[in-house]
Amino acid sequence: LPYEKPMDIAYSFDGPFGTWDKAQLQRGLKVYDEVCAACHSLKFVAFRDLEQLGYDEGQIKAYAAAKQVPGIDPNTGEASMRPGLPTDYFPSPYPNAVAAAAANNNAIPPDLSLMTKARGDGTNYVASLLMGYQAPSAELLAEHPEAAPGPGLHHNPYFPNLNLAMAPPLTTDGQVTFDDGTEATIEQMSTDVAAFLAWTAEPTMVKRKQTGWPVLIFLLFATILAYMSKQQIWSAVK
Ligand code: HEM
Repeated sequence: LPYEKPMDIAYSFDGPFGTWDKAQLQRGLKVYDEVCAACHSLKFVAFRDLEQLGYDEGQIKAYAAAKQVPGIDPNTGEASMRPGLPTDYFPSPYPNAVAAAAANNNAIPPDLSLMTKARGDGTNYVASLLMGYQAPSAELLAEHPEAAPGPGLHHNPYFPNLNLAMAPPLTTDGQVTFDDGTEATIEQMSTDVAAFLAWTAEPTMVKRKQTGWPVLIFLLFATILAYMSKQQIWSAVK
C-alpha cells in the first residue's frame, strides 16, 4: 500500500554542528507528560536524566515525587506503589501488557524511549505521524479499498499500514500550556515531542558529534606527522 515518507522538519540538532534546544526538549517533555504518558512508557529514561534538559535537583525531586512508581511496602513486603525518586525510571501507565492491550483495543502502545531509532527517519516520522491523521482520500479508496480503516483503527498516511490503533493524540491547539509561552499549535507540540524523543533515544548525540571534530583534526595532524617522519627516515636512501 502506498504510504507517505515523513515530512522533512528542521531541528536544532540536525547536521554535524547540531545542538539540543533545551527549551524545545522541555516543551516536548511536557507534551509526553500530559498526553503520551497516559498510554506510553519511557522505560529507559530516569528522572535524574532530566538534569540534561536544564532542570535542577530540586525540580527533579519534585517531579519524581509527583509520580507513582512500583515499589515494595516495607511493612508487609507486598508490591505497592510509592512516590518516585530521581533514580527511578519513568513508570509504565499500565501494570502489564494484558492491561495495556485491554485498554487500547488489543494494541499495546509501544515504549517510546527508542522509538525515533526504531523507525526510519524516526524524529521526522514521529512528528509526521502526530500531524498526519486524516480521512483516506477517495482516490486511495478507489484503488485500494482495503485501505479503509477497520473498527477501532485510524487512518494515517505516514503509518506504513495506513491505519493504526492510536487515535490522534494531539487534536487541538493549546492542548498543552508551554511554560515558555510558545504557542502550542499541533505542529509545535508534534515537533517538540519528536525532538524530546530524539533526546531520549540518544541523549549523547550532541556529545558524539562534538567529539568527532577533534578526532578528525587529530587524525589529520597525525597523518601529516607520519608522512613527514617517513620522508625524514628515508631521506638518505636514493
Ligand atoms: C503507537 C507516539 C499518545 C496509544 C504509537 C507509535 C508512536 C506513538 C510513535 C508507534 C507507531 C509505529 O509503530 O510506528 C505517541 C505520542 C503520543 C502518543 C508521541 C503523544 C503525543 C498516545 C495515547 C494513546 C496512544 C494518548 C492512548 C490513548 C497508542 C497505541 C499504539 C500507539 C495503542 C499502537 C498502534 C498500533 O500499532 O496500531 N504512538 N503516542 N498513544 N499509540 Fe501512541
